[in-house]
Amino acid sequence: MTLNTSFLRNVFLYKCLFALTFWNHVSLSVEDELFTSVSNNFQEDVSKQKIMSLPLLYTKSYQSKANVDWVVIQNTTESLSLSEITDHNVKKLIALLSNFRQGSRLTNLTLTNMSVGWNNLMEIFQTIWHTSVEYFNTNNVTQLSDVESYDFDYSGTSMKALTMKKIAITDMYFTQDDLYKIFANMNITDMTIADSEMIHMLCPSDKSSFRYLNFQKNDLTDFLFQKCDNLLQLETLILQKNKFESLRKVSFMTSGMKSLKYLDMSNNLLRHDGADVPCQWWAESLAELDLSSNQLVDAVFECLPVNVKKLSLQNNQISNVPSGVAELKSLEELNLASNRLADLPGCSGFTSLQFLNIEMNLIFTPSADFFQSCPRVRELQAGHNPFKCSCELQAFIRLERRSGGKLFGWPAAYVCEYPEGLRGTELKDFHLSLLACNTTLLLVTALLLTLLLVAAVAFLCIYLDVPWYVRMTWQWTQTKRRAWHNPAGDQGAMLQFHAFISYSERDSLWVKNELIPNLERGEGCVQLCQHERNFIPGKSIVENIINCIEKSYKSIFVLSPNFVQSEWCHYELYFAHHKLFSENSNSLILILLEPIPPYLIPARYHKLKALMAKRTYMEWPKERSKHALFWANLRAAININLPISSEVNE
Ligand SMILES: *[C@@H]1O[C@H](CO)[C@@H](O)[C@H](O)[C@H]1NC(C)=O
Ligand SMILES: *[C@@H]1O[C@H](CO)[C@@H](O)[C@H](O)[C@H]1NC(C)=O
Ligand SMILES: *[C@@H]1O[C@H](CO)[C@@H](O)[C@H](O)[C@H]1NC(C)=O
Ligand SMILES: *[C@@H]1O[C@H](CO)[C@@H](O)[C@H](O)[C@H]1NC(C)=O
Ligand SMILES: *[C@@H]1O[C@H](CO)[C@@H](O)[C@H](O)[C@H]1NC(C)=O
Repeated sequence: MTLNTSFLRNVFLYKCLFALTFWNHVSLSVEDELFTSVSNNFQEDVSKQKIMSLPLLYTKSYQSKANVDWVVIQNTTESLSLSEITDHNVKKLIALLSNFRQGSRLTNLTLTNMSVGWNNLMEIFQTIWHTSVEYFNTNNVTQLSDVESYDFDYSGTSMKALTMKKIAITDMYFTQDDLYKIFANMNITDMTIADSEMIHMLCPSDKSSFRYLNFQKNDLTDFLFQKCDNLLQLETLILQKNKFESLRKVSFMTSGMKSLKYLDMSNNLLRHDGADVPCQWWAESLAELDLSSNQLVDAVFECLPVNVKKLSLQNNQISNVPSGVAELKSLEELNLASNRLADLPGCSGFTSLQFLNIEMNLIFTPSADFFQSCPRVRELQAGHNPFKCSCELQAFIRLERRSGGKLFGWPAAYVCEYPEGLRGTELKDFHLSLLACNTTLLLVTALLLTLLLVAAVAFLCIYLDVPWYVRMTWQWTQTKRRAWHNPAGDQGAMLQFHAFISYSERDSLWVKNELIPNLERGEGCVQLCQHERNFIPGKSIVENIINCIEKSYKSIFVLSPNFVQSEWCHYELYFAHHKLFSENSNSLILILLEPIPPYLIPARYHKLKALMAKRTYMEWPKERSKHALFWANLRAAININLPISSEVNE
């Protein structure tokens, strides 16, 4: 019994305490009085309890007293901003707000740091609904518990916009619809519920007057507003930073929103796998769509609103803009920054495109025909790509010069990434010579150079006869070398002449005027055996010749067509008997005075043919300038120190 009564009394005291805190105008003395009266109504032993509870009571009372007063942050005739609203000062707040009837001047009301239960919150909302407040904001509402159905009276309001940020519902179990229907059915134009971990929102039960809905930073999913036909006036819908996953469902969501112009779906988990999934439910009025920071790939282009003018696909995983898939005739602004594109997209599907942002992709070498394929583009933002500074990029740099300032962020944002050596160089400062980059030009140049070289060589050969000089020089060095290796003297004992000279009668003029004077003149004078001069009477010509040859160290033949036709036969005999020439061809010197056409050489002259084929002869140059070398060469070929030269002179 005693236990029971003390329990009851405690309950009573508690109620009393809360009453005190609510009605905060009651002074401490009144509290004391009240408490006294309460205790008087109970038995003696209660007073013990009272004494024990007293410090607790006072503490509580003191705390509640502090909570009674809110903090005024702003107080003007049009605008009121209060903070620290608790369950304890709610009644006072309602009393205060009730004064601002419709027609009063207060239009903006902000309540922050609210810590109230559901019913108190609804009381506040309902009161404000009927005041003159047009813009109502709440920020940081905590301790929201005991959510239950509330019969909200929507009639007669001045309110235009409701903004609620950071509403935390502490209730774990409640009927979700009780909460959502209050807000869904508000017939106002603008509503924001942000940063509140909200997982759902109901479709308004009647035609709604919402024009602007902002539910950013919540936990909304693909179930939002599916099959909702009551948002006919909605123009702006912001759903960024939620948990939407299916682009198809988002498309379906907008199907009933006949006035929707702007939709922000950025920072969700949106995907679209394409593969013939029907996706064309987009509101036709939709002109601006933000799909940035999702998980969209190339297939997104199969699921876009046809009339969109401004589209952001920034920060997705698009690697290619498929051509021929999306026909977005109204698209004026396209943002594809921070994707994985490897080249600029063409404009075949986007005939009205004016602005393109393609920064921070994987474009090494942007194709240079961009402005041709996209004639309407006024601004291209292509900086911060890993540009590969090579010949192909030159075309793009030229494009910049021709485009007339259409490249946004030039030059600072356009920097070489590859090759390593050029990293950090601005594209503006990257130059390669025209030759290094133009293959045709390079080929033509190489060809021209080759031709020039050929021409030079031909010139040298034809006009300066360099090969002749080379051959002569070669022969001269060879002779010198041989002379060095086989010093004369071993067979020289029986020899009287340096050389025997043989020629056709018709070439005698040259021999007498050129050859002999040149060889016999000067130092190291050459002794020549000439069959006319050194003729031994009584012997046949052939015998004389053979005699002459045998006494000479070398044999010089002045070859010409005349010689071949008239004289060669004389020597054939000699050659036939004396194998000397074939064994020691060193002793044979052939001078080609005039070219001998091969057909002039009779077929039986095998030896001559072989000699001619080997080109072991010296050619007599027509040009005067070459004569000196010719003689030097010839002299070197003959040059033998005759041990008996003095005898011969005598
Ligand atoms: C606002 O200021 C007026 C006087 O300027 C004062 O009467 C009123 O009580 C204030 N309101 C609040 C909520 O503090
Ligand atoms: C809300 O409460 C926090 C912590 O008590 C305080 O720092 C902040 O200034 C309060 N906000 C307002 C608008 O009074
Ligand atoms: C009231 O709030 C609206 C919307 O936030 C704002 O545009 C307006 O300037 C505010 N008025 C006053 C008097 O603060
Ligand atoms: C929100 O309000 C509560 C009191 O209502 C306060 O304790 C808390 O610090 C506030 N939080 C912020 C972020 O202002
Ligand atoms: C809101 O709807 C109620 C009826 O439900 C109506 O009385 C009221 O005038 C409407 N208010 C506005 C601002 O449309």
